[in-house]
Amino acid sequence: MDANTSTQKPTDSWIRKGVGACELIEEEKMHACGGSMMGAVQQSVWMTGSGLHPKISTGVDIPWGIRLNSLKPCKASHVEGSLVTGGLPSSVSVPAPGIDGDVSSIKDYSLSEADPEVHAIIGKEKQRQFSCLELIASENFTSRAVMEVVGSCLTNKYSEGLPGKRYYGGNEFIDEIEILCQKRALAAFHLDENKWGVNVQPLSGSPANFEVYTALLKPHDRIMGLDLPHGGHLSHGFMTPKRRVSGTSIFFESMPYRLDESTGLVDYEMLEKTANLFRPKLIIAGASAYPRDFDYPRMRKIADAVGAFLMMDMAHISGLIAASVIADPFEYSDVVTTTTHKSLRGPRAGLIFFKKDPVLGVDLETAINNAVFPGLQGGPHNNTIGGVAVCLKHAQSPEFKIYQTQVVSNCKALAARLIDLGYKLVSGGSDNHLVLVDLRPLGIDGARLEKILDMSSITLNKNSVPGDKSALVPGGIRIGTPALTTRGFKEDDFLAVADLIHEGVQIALEAKGSARGTKLKDFMDYVESPDFSLKGRIADLKRRVEALATQFPMPGV
Ligand SMILES: Cc1ncc(COP(=O)(O)O)c(C=O)c1O
Repeated sequence: MDANTSTQKPTDSWIRKGVGACELIEEEKMHACGGSMMGAVQQSVWMTGSGLHPKISTGVDIPWGIRLNSLKPCKASHVEGSLVTGGLPSSVSVPAPGIDGDVSSIKDYSLSEADPEVHAIIGKEKQRQFSCLELIASENFTSRAVMEVVGSCLTNKYSEGLPGKRYYGGNEFIDEIEILCQKRALAAFHLDENKWGVNVQPLSGSPANFEVYTALLKPHDRIMGLDLPHGGHLSHGFMTPKRRVSGTSIFFESMPYRLDESTGLVDYEMLEKTANLFRPKLIIAGASAYPRDFDYPRMRKIADAVGAFLMMDMAHISGLIAASVIADPFEYSDVVTTTTHKSLRGPRAGLIFFKKDPVLGVDLETAINNAVFPGLQGGPHNNTIGGVAVCLKHAQSPEFKIYQTQVVSNCKALAARLIDLGYKLVSGGSDNHLVLVDLRPLGIDGARLEKILDMSSITLNKNSVPGDKSALVPGGIRIGTPALTTRGFKEDDFLAVADLIHEGVQIALEAKGSARGTKLKDFMDYVESPDFSLKGRIADLKRRVEALATQFPMPGV
């Protein structure tokens, strides 16, 4: 990334060295102009920093984005060529569109030269990520090291099959990286490799889940997962009276279990009763919007009573599980799936863990490996597998444990402040990385509030809450702490975040009162229109939100 678009702030390693603002600018220049500098900056160094983030230690009063924009751009082709290959740009390359010349001597152009349009869009997205308060519970900021692997030559290789059993030649190093990733996956979740195996090839969380169903079930076998409007995930099955929405419900028969609406907790009694009637072949634990932990022993008992497999989809909480800050599902599950890009802080991918011993007469290892390839996927994304390996190394570090402890502690601070401000939280609080706010008692909904907060640089999502009638205008919002915790937010910062959200709620309520009609569209049209009377309030909120967000560094390239 050249200096023109870089918004990266100094790492704690710089701050700890006590460098002044001018030296920082000099270092930043080198950082922007030299691959070796980039390699020298380790994500884990600043992650562990004991609160020494720029907001309290640099005393630099010029916003980082502006300061960096004043830097002279270095020659981008050299920057990016040296970052990836460690050498000068390659002379064997794809022609850059719009650049004339002799094809045989074409250089490997940097993105900024080859495609300024895409480069500029990435620059804008990077600035957005840096200046917004990122509170989407399923998002995170992955590390520079992971990004380097994802953008490496590993992307060039085809390697259908498993290590040692490939359909193409030239895979000795790809085998090495996939085996390393497998070993680290088992180690990160404290698993004995004689008892558990893992497939690291799933392209993402939904494909991983479908691969498990394909492995364990016959078409139209029965599945039970947490209902989508009660916090479950689409890939656990979802249908309306008119339509089978999720592929899971097209190819299998899905019956949801739900929360007890009076407590906001999973209704295990109802699950037990319906499982006894429905007799599912697979019960799924795990959720996308559930602020509490699952009762794995109880789910195991229910699955055993009806002869079902128990799968845990730990996508949201796998980072917390690796760091042992919440309960471990492995002891009770037959199969565990996860994404790698949420609390785990890796690149976008999926993992499937399976018991090595047969379960209900099925050899899970063979069935799952065959379902991934050739069942549902082709060539693995080796660059991503390399990135997953890097994130799984980090997931075993003491820093990672500190980070995940902070994620939970920040979430508790956020929940407590929201309760003090009068908000109703589903289940009354949180044990993990997210809170679900029920806005209905206030007379506002998640869709309108999401819009106002978006306009104010606060990024979160509308979410159904138990008892909701409409999925398009749900009654709640979901707020997660992993991403901002990665940037160094602590409990006090999350109190400030709660106050800023509260201001957004007041604006949303007033805007709802002034909109011409009562439909969501009337509201959306009004807040986008020139007559929107609260523009100034939003601009003021946005300015303070961005002032807070830009005090914290953002990892990555
Ligand atoms: C619990 C759960 N499982 C699976 C997924 C799907 O992951 P992906 O979006 O990578 O397909 C998600 C996504 O948010 C999720 O929350």
